[in-house]
Amino acid sequence: MSHHHRHDVLVIGSGAAGLTLALTLPEHLRIAVLSKGSLASGSTYWAQGGVAAVLDDTDTVDSHVQDTLVAGAGLCREDAVRFTVEHSREAIQWLIEQGVPFTRDEDPGREDGGFEFHLTREGGHSHRRIIHAADATGAAIFNTLLEKARQRPNVELLEQRVAVDLITERRLGQTGDRCLGAYVLDRASGEVDTYHARFVVLACGGASKVYLYTSNPDSTCGDGIAMAWRAGCRVGNLEFNQFHPTCLYHPQAKSFLITEAVRGEGGLLKLPNGERFMQRFHSRAELAPRDVVARAIDHEMKRLGADCVYLDISHKPADFIKAHFPTVYDRCLAFGIDITREPIPVVPAAHYTCGGVVVEARGRTDIPGLYAIGETTFTGLHGANRLASNSLLECFVYARSAAFDILEQASLTPLPEQLPSWDASQVTDSDEDVIIAHNWDELRRFMWDYVGIVRTNKRLQRAQHRVRLLLSEIDEFYSNYKVSRDLIELRNLALVADLIIRSAMQRHESRGLHYTLDYPDPVDPPQDTILVPPTYGD
Ligand code: FAD
Ligand code: SIN
Repeated sequence: MSHHHRHDVLVIGSGAAGLTLALTLPEHLRIAVLSKGSLASGSTYWAQGGVAAVLDDTDTVDSHVQDTLVAGAGLCREDAVRFTVEHSREAIQWLIEQGVPFTRDEDPGREDGGFEFHLTREGGHSHRRIIHAADATGAAIFNTLLEKARQRPNVELLEQRVAVDLITERRLGQTGDRCLGAYVLDRASGEVDTYHARFVVLACGGASKVYLYTSNPDSTCGDGIAMAWRAGCRVGNLEFNQFHPTCLYHPQAKSFLITEAVRGEGGLLKLPNGERFMQRFHSRAELAPRDVVARAIDHEMKRLGADCVYLDISHKPADFIKAHFPTVYDRCLAFGIDITREPIPVVPAAHYTCGGVVVEARGRTDIPGLYAIGETTFTGLHGANRLASNSLLECFVYARSAAFDILEQASLTPLPEQLPSWDASQVTDSDEDVIIAHNWDELRRFMWDYVGIVRTNKRLQRAQHRVRLLLSEIDEFYSNYKVSRDLIELRNLALVADLIIRSAMQRHESRGLHYTLDYPDPVDPPQDTILVPPTYGD
């Protein structure tokens, strides 16, 4: 039997963004935080490098803003960049107060402006400004915030709950457009429950799972973007998928990232013959912005017909490597690679969704009562290419500002009245799950081949043709069979793939992460790609 639940705030997602929002709201509000898998199933847990922020006396807001604008290749919204960077110190202070065990500086006062925590360097940053917990920053942040959330009596943490769709006044045929809640599959019971909420917050992470090779965990299927689009929200700049230059290349290693901080601390990229190559592509060589490094690797691999390139930090003392990169060291050793003695085989992989649901500085979407925060969003911070470690920062800054906004309106916003239950009367159990598995594979493969690091008009047209066929097949399946996590994710991935392809087709230039052989140069003035859903503002 399906159930009805009532909360003041329904947060869909238990990563950095969702947990920060829940912890920033006061204890008199009843909050549900959902995760479609385990609570740790988002990208946050896997973040390695750290969080970018202006923390020491030698760094400045202007410098961080400038680095972000340069990486964003003319498309960042400067007000969003300034807003984020100006709130960076306060966000880190909040994390320190929560008890996040950031790595301390053994010798504060010398190189890094007297700040008590160690700051590392990453590509595109002109300063050491990445605060981190060795090379497992995401796990340290996630574990700390989760522990705090568990101590809050007003916060219900619900695992294995997959949000299917948002409930809005318009969907119910009522006047107005407010978001009233969501339908959520309880994986234990197999039933779709109805969640009523004064405010719904999408904190569902990105969509990198749309690609065959990704650094991301399995949860990143663009669910937040797809649900928001279906509900009538605009999405922006979805053609800018960031490919991380260095994921471990090993047949048994699924999605393991080699943090950019390895290059920040002196790691060198080399061809199979041991020759360095990044100085041929950018004056900052290994520390060039990520799009430049990923494209350079892709170019060299294609030129040489090589399976991978190599990242070498073995010239540094072994103790230094083990102290700074214990996770990378252990993981590589498990695959027989001793990084203190030999280079690491690496390839680029899909890593981050720069675009997403259009929001303003308080995380408000186009639909009243619906917020979006974290990787699900398009805030204008990242432009055409995200600067390393600005993503977690964005999660904290926007989650906190959305929480303050919700709090301001909470007393004025009534709980929705009884909402209709999910109607499963017309569907049966699927007897053909092989179709879902097949479509998953096909989608992710053609997205990698046709909508990847280097694009062309023809490749995009091919991809669009295929995704349209998949969408109609999936729609039919969705109308006839009971929903499962796999089906919900496939439906969302196919929709987001279509939105990515449409966005890429609209951009007749190469800029930042969008590179096409048909339009190799940037066109002025730079413009965002904003897609408007058919149901927008009806
Ligand atoms: P996530 O942490 O991805 O959480 C999403 C949540 O939403 C999960 O709980 C998931 O279960 C839930 N969810 C999704 N769909 C549904 C649904 N339909 N129903 C219910 N729940 C749902 N960024 C940095 O700034 N610095 C770094 O060092 C860094 N390193 C990274 C390393 C790796 C390997 C990866 C993959 C990313 C890294 N990033 C880094 C990017 C950064 O980690 C992410 O952008 C950020 O953690 C996203 O946080 P989030 O809260 O938006 O989403
Ligand atoms: C990394 O550690 O290289 C990832 C940093 C990021 O994605 O910002």
